[in-house]
Amino acid sequence: MNFFLRKSIIALTGLFLCVFLMVHLSANCILLFPEEVAREMYNSYSTTLRENPLIKIVAYLLYLSIIFHVLYAAIVTYRNRKAKPQRYAVNRTADNSTWTSQNMGLIGVLVLIFIVVHLANFWARIKLGIGEGVGMDNAGYVDVYEVTYNLFQNVYYVLFYTVLMIPLALHLNHGLKSAFKTLGFYHKKGLRIIARVSLFYAAIISIGFGVIPLIVFLK
Ligand code: HEM
Repeated sequence: MNFFLRKSIIALTGLFLCVFLMVHLSANCILLFPEEVAREMYNSYSTTLRENPLIKIVAYLLYLSIIFHVLYAAIVTYRNRKAKPQRYAVNRTADNSTWTSQNMGLIGVLVLIFIVVHLANFWARIKLGIGEGVGMDNAGYVDVYEVTYNLFQNVYYVLFYTVLMIPLALHLNHGLKSAFKTLGFYHKKGLRIIARVSLFYAAIISIGFGVIPLIVFLK
């Protein structure tokens, strides 16, 4: 498979994940409503995710997208490193590329660590029924609202969820711009608009996800 095809897979799966994050953030805003309405709304949203057949198909697409995005990003990073292994005394690339673009590998790993921990916190418990605890009963019923509120009583989890939104912001800002370029968007003025939209998108997503655990903790 050639370099362009690999980059296109990273771009397309990345764009799909960006759409998922918008939907996911909107749904998680329910957590900020008063408890009387939020508990029922959040739990019925979670039940719909698990039981609606169409949403189940989208969920499988989401898992495949995460796997392909990570896999091809790792392959491209590895091949790029192999192609230019020597470090020069004067690093000219630093002149025309940002710190983020040079460290997308490291930033991507931090985002991946976040996702793995997050899936263990929620997805494994809710979808696979792994682990017991607050909000879960022996008959398999899960009060997802309770699971979430209980997790964010732990200050270490709150810090983890909040601090790791910094690499997520950097990753989304750079990734969104790169995805459009990879897919052939070279118009100069258009790229300037895309750069602004990417920054705005990355800020909304990371601030949104970063403040929810804080607000829940302080409630
Ligand atoms: C305030 C922060 C967040 C909260 C409270 C939260 C909550 C949840 C919950 C409750 C689920 C399980 C949904 C269900 O099946 O009922 C879930 C799944 C998931 N979350 Fe999050 N999430 C947060 C942030 C994030 C972020 C920042 C990402 C990605 C960078 C993410 C990625 C995912 C993925 C990939 C799934 C699996 C989706 C599925 O199986 O359908 N989440 N999250």
